[in-house]
Amino acid sequence: LPKEILKCRYCGFESLGNRYYWRCPKCGKPLIITYEDFKAPTISELRRAVSKLSSIWVFSKWLPQVSDMVTLGEGLTPIVRKVLRGVNVYFKLDYLNPTGSFKDRGASLTISKVLSLGLRSVVEDSSGNAGVSITCYGVVAGLSVRVYAPKTSLRSKLDLIRALGGKVVETKDRYEANVKALNGLSENEVYVGHLWNPYFIEGLKTLAYELAIQLGKVLSNETYVLIPTSSGGNLLGCYKGFKEAIEGGVVIDLPKLIAIQAQSPAPIYEGFHNVKLNYEETTLADGLRVKNPPRLNEIINALRESRGGVIIVTDQEILRALKALLKMGFIVEPTSATAYAAFNKLVDDGVLGRGDNIVLILTGSGLKSINDLLRWCERQGSYT
Ligand SMILES: Cc1ncc(COP(=O)(O)O)c(C=O)c1O
Ligand SMILES: [Zn+2]
Repeated sequence: LPKEILKCRYCGFESLGNRYYWRCPKCGKPLIITYEDFKAPTISELRRAVSKLSSIWVFSKWLPQVSDMVTLGEGLTPIVRKVLRGVNVYFKLDYLNPTGSFKDRGASLTISKVLSLGLRSVVEDSSGNAGVSITCYGVVAGLSVRVYAPKTSLRSKLDLIRALGGKVVETKDRYEANVKALNGLSENEVYVGHLWNPYFIEGLKTLAYELAIQLGKVLSNETYVLIPTSSGGNLLGCYKGFKEAIEGGVVIDLPKLIAIQAQSPAPIYEGFHNVKLNYEETTLADGLRVKNPPRLNEIINALRESRGGVIIVTDQEILRALKALLKMGFIVEPTSATAYAAFNKLVDDGVLGRGDNIVLILTGSGLKSINDLLRWCERQGSYT
């Protein structure tokens, strides 16, 4: 049944997708997914696909094959265009996914794969959204789910994981969540952590397919795509999806991929510019807390190839952006507002001007943490 090949770009290891590996069993590096005879999608094929059903599975021709599809209608999210400060801004509303974040694209594919392989138990580490997403799809599939999350995570996200039927193990910080998830793994459990899991990225690439259909010729190497980035899953998914869309002639050129990070941790900024920063850790962007992304090299290569880069934003900038987005009716979380903060920076710095095109990925909903939204807005009222 499986048509995908799990491949290690570092040591050459390859395996058909009839066994799940979260990393390379030979050298321990992250794996990617390739196909023996991949025919890239053309624009008419993609158009025909999206007219059929409403989930990422309309793209199943270009995804790993599964016998059990676990879907909640993820993907196919709208775009809203606004002209702001003279710039054409395309907001991709990926926070409108079933559990309120783009993670559902990766979770749907991952859980479908796990179920198809006959596995029954998954373990994830997350600061919140990925945990909610994996739990939701896992529980729907009848799997048992355990999520390791820092105790500083938003209560509302951890409560939602519990309400859905997942088990939460609270840890000191994001790093310890990762270590404990891996150390606590028993024989019959699968680690599906999105920091490593190649299926997660493969699901996320559907975001780029959709942008390719929705924006068509707007996408060129002059177009900026701003992606709040932590482990780099979304960015690498977009990179892969765009590359395939280029191969199929749907998109002409790779848009400039811009990773957005908080003031700290900012390992991608540090790696890209080869510097060490010394800022205080963000208290707002709870989804951007990965300090050592295992795919850092892949991320930097994707940024360089697309002639993109990394922008860091302060908590004060995030808060201002969050309030501005709320006023426009985009009920997102601070982690997503980083993209809008970065957009303002690009205009302030004169990088973007009248008539330019920019895509902002709004990754996570504010509805999952509505009480915190109120607290943030009231506490920092003076920033408006
Ligand atoms: C709302 C939101 N945006 C962006 C990210 C970062 O995504 P990635 O880890 O794929 O880089 C996360 C990760 O948790 C998130 O929750
Ligand atoms: Zn390897």
